[in-house]
Parts: sequence; C-alpha cells; structure tokens
Amino acid sequence: MTFDTIIKGGTIATAVDTFVADVGITNGKITALGTDLGDAGRIIYAKDMLVLPGGIDAHCHIEQESSTKLMTADDFYSGSVSAAFGGNTTFIPFAAQHRGQHLRDVVDETHAKAEPKSVIDYAFHLIISDPTDHVLGQELPALIAQGYTSFKVYMTYEMLKIDDRQMLDVLSIARTNGAMTMVHAENDDVISWLTDRLLNRGYTEPKYHAVSHAAIAESEASRRAIDLATLVDAKLLIVHVSAPEAATAIRDARTKGLPIYGETCPQYLFLTADDLDRDGVEGAKFCCSPPPKNKEAQDAIWRGLINDTFQIVSSDHAPYRYDETGKFAAGPNPTFKKIANGVPGIETRMPLLFSEGVGKGRLTLNQFVALTSTNAAKIYGLHPRKGTIAIGADADIAIWDPTWERTITHDMLHDNMDYTPFEGMTVTGWPRMVINRGRMVVEDETLQVDRGSGNFLERTPEIDRTDLAKGSPLHPDNNFGADIL
Ligand code: URP
Ligand code: ZN
Ligand code: ZN
Repeated sequence: MTFDTIIKGGTIATAVDTFVADVGITNGKITALGTDLGDAGRIIYAKDMLVLPGGIDAHCHIEQESSTKLMTADDFYSGSVSAAFGGNTTFIPFAAQHRGQHLRDVVDETHAKAEPKSVIDYAFHLIISDPTDHVLGQELPALIAQGYTSFKVYMTYEMLKIDDRQMLDVLSIARTNGAMTMVHAENDDVISWLTDRLLNRGYTEPKYHAVSHAAIAESEASRRAIDLATLVDAKLLIVHVSAPEAATAIRDARTKGLPIYGETCPQYLFLTADDLDRDGVEGAKFCCSPPPKNKEAQDAIWRGLINDTFQIVSSDHAPYRYDETGKFAAGPNPTFKKIANGVPGIETRMPLLFSEGVGKGRLTLNQFVALTSTNAAKIYGLHPRKGTIAIGADADIAIWDPTWERTITHDMLHDNMDYTPFEGMTVTGWPRMVINRGRMVVEDETLQVDRGSGNFLERTPEIDRTDLAKGSPLHPDNNFGADIL
C-alpha cells in the first residue's frame, strides 16, 4: 500500500498511551500505525519529535461582537491561523445570540464569517442570551438535531445573563435533546454590588476589577448552576474556572457521579490578580472575567488538572486590543467597569501548558493530550474523528519539538492583537509541523494552506441516557417521571 504521507519514527502520545510508531495517512485519514509501512508521497522523519493529536481549542471568541458591541480583533482567518501556529487543528468559537435575534440567523451569519476564512476545522457553540418561548420550543431543539450540540449561557453580564428559571429551561432542553450546556458562573448581583461600592469610593483602577469579581461570586454561582443541573439531571460544563472553591464544587459533584465537567484556562495557571495591578492602565491587558486570583488559587487550579476537576484547558481567547478599538473603547483612562473583558491566548495555550506542565513534571504527556484535545473531542461530540491518533481518525497531528526553546513575544504570534499577556515567558516545546486532515497547515514557521480550507464539523446529539439519574429529585422513585422535563 502506498500512503499519501508517512510520519516516521516519532513518539506518538494519545490520552492513554505513548509509543514509537509510524503513522500512515491516506485521503486525510490515519490509515495505519506500525513499522515499515512502505512507500508514501511524502515521508516526514520525526525521530526525537512528539507526534500528538492536533489541539482542540474548545473556548475562543472569534469575529464575535460583544454584548457592548465591540468586535474581537481576530476574525476567522487570523484566529484560525494563530490557533494553527499554536498546534491546534480544530477550534470551537461561538455563534453568539444577542437579545432579539433568532438563533438560526446567528448560526447562518457565523457560517458566512467562518467558511471563507478558517484554515483549520471548526464547530460552533451557541450562546443563548434570549431564551424566548420560540427559541426554547422550536429553534433550539431544531438546531441541536442539526448538530449544534453545545451552548453557553451566562449568569452575569447585563445583556447576556439569564435567570435561574431560564437556566432550568435551557438545561432541561439540553437534557432531553442530547446537548451540553456550558455556563459562565459568576453571581451578577455580587459583582454589581461590589462594583458600585468600589466606584462610589473612587476605586477605579484595573486592579479593582479583580476585587469586584470576588471568588465568592464564582463559587456561589458554580454551586447554584450545579444544583440546577442536578435538579433536571443535565450535563453541565463550568467554563473558565478561576476560584478554588468553584473547583471544589465541581470535584464534589464529580465524586458523586454527576455529569458535571470543568474547564480552566492559561490565565488562571500563569497569571494572578497582581498582574491587574501593573503600572498605569497596563493592568487592563489582564482584565478578564472571571479574573485571575492569587498564587494559592493558581496552585489549586494546577492541582485541578490532575485530580479530574478539569477535563479541558481552553484559551478563552477574547482578543480586544490595547487601544481604542478594544480595551480603551470607552476612553483612554476607563474605570475598571468599562474595560473590555478578555485576554488573547489561542496560540500560546498549548506551548505554555506543555512547557510548564509536561516539561516541569506536573503533567504526563498523556494528561496534556487529554486536557488540550481528547477530552474536548469527547465532551463536544467530535471523538473519535478528532482528538486522537487512531486508525480511522482524521489525520490531525501536531509534530512537536520538545526541545525548541522560545521566549513568547507578541511579535512572533499570528493573531491580530497588539499584546500578549504572556510576554517574556520562556517555554520549551512548540510544534514544528501542524497537519489537519492530512494537509500540512504549518511547516517551516510558515502557513501552507489557503484561506477557507478548514471544514465545518457536524456533530450528532448524544441522547445517551434515557432514564433520570437516581440522584435527581425528578427520578420516578421520588414520585415524578421524566416527562416533567
Ligand atoms: O473575560 C472574558 N472571559 N471574556 C470573554 C467572554 C467570556 O465570558 O468568556
Ligand atoms: Zn464566560
Ligand atoms: Zn469566553
């Protein structure tokens, strides 16, 4: 048999195994794993390299207008190129509903943005900010059936938040139709109460963003979201976790066997609230929600990577430039309340975690693969097509040079930003080649593919549980039937 490509002699790592083998690729799929595979159109010699599944960045804001009408600096071209240079072969940005919009229109508009531009494969999570009867009764079930099987809801942000009753509606639709709900869990009243008090007393600098988003806002909302999901026996993933108490809530739920999942991000592993206290308004570069906490919290979040609190590390790439188009859209010296929330990091997510995780012995290579690729594929319905190196999977592979030492500067990145919060950090390990469906996307530090060559990934709903969990108050043993959902 002749292959299109053979990757020869590399060390392959999946979420469970590490072994030396050659990878044969035909028509964009992995068609052989073994030795002496024979001939190929191209042989890539990968001795001393790591052959890993391409990364899946499962939380990033690309060509998305915020609820305050700010457009992200990255569109589907620059965002996907930057993702690829950081070792990703798939990303899952948002199709974000603003109040008054039909979800179907939002999805169509997001396709129109992505299709001509993305250089890697992609799916969309929906953002639901306006769960009207029509959205809940018709649009959402129809979109889930068509493969839009994950959506994010917010418990904070004036123009995005939904209340507990609406959350129950969304969760119960997810439960009956086989979808995953993601939640931004922060208590909006706690944040706005603290914000008003701080501003009234003249505490306006960026560092007070971290004070206003107290850890208790996150832990209370996380526990409440878990309880609401438990009531209707729905799967729930808490995104961008920063506070140890929220991590504990997730871990406790998982220990009980509940279908609760956790995601954290590099900003909670590599930054702290002290970064918001840099000179002048430089702290604005680090304002994201929830904000990074203190060093003890950072250590706890690291522990959560190995004790099964977190299944996914995503970037939450939310690129707002350090200028009047982004962080300073409200003026040159805004109060912390007016600074656009979010940090960039789509290209640095994997190298940072590889270097500080695998390189420093905090994570095994297999844990790294699980956290950055395989688990996202499984949780969001892309596995085994994506997220692993196995026969029949898409040939989505990053060939890592584990000895490549690089100091992160904004200049070397490929996003459309004007800063990186990780400026000056030195990492060891970065992908030399990135392959998506057998196509060489990045090689010799150069992009090798055309705009729009990425594919949209259809998913199928996972109605994997027909019976309610025993723990649910709605279980028949507790005198209710699943029909209450
Ligand atoms: O501050 C953040 N994370 N901004 C992006 C939007 C979100 O809530 O993920
Ligand atoms: Zn969020
Ligand atoms: Zn986000």
